Amino acid sequence: MTRSDMTDRRPDGPRPTPDDWLAIGEVSARTGAAVSALRFYEELGLIASERDGRGRRHYPRHMLRRIALISVAKRIGIPLQDLKEAFADVPLDRPPSHQEWQRASRGWKLRLEERRQTIERLEAELTGCIGCGCLSMKACALLNPGDELAEEGVGARRL
Ligand code: FES
Repeated sequence: MTRSDMTDRRPDGPRPTPDDWLAIGEVSARTGAAVSALRFYEELGLIASERDGRGRRHYPRHMLRRIALISVAKRIGIPLQDLKEAFADVPLDRPPSHQEWQRASRGWKLRLEERRQTIERLEAELTGCIGCGCLSMKACALLNPGDELAEEGVGARRL
């Protein structure tokens, strides 16, 4: 069966299989991701497609799971680069195994935990700064984290 046979399925046509291929418009409709977003994810190496004889993109069905995870990550503000690292060991060219998804899941959990701790720290610092307002380059951890601006010389560096 060719890829176009699968994507041009009729109601009485062959039943979809796990190896089925989906046209980009169908993937967009199923995932809610814009066609332009799918192309962008592909440019970043987050997903992969194959072209048919007319140059149209077709995605293997297992790519839907990746796209769903990308959508969730975007909603909670995870940078796409972080996602790429989290997916680094999950194959693009075949359906990932349960163990491969489990490994990615553990890495993902660690990243979320790091992110949660960072947000909690920033929340504490921001709450203090809103109440303070001193804008001190020496004392304010938000304006000058780790006193990084001291390396640029004395006096005001930003304000
Ligand atoms: S504004 Fe005073 S410590 Fe940040």
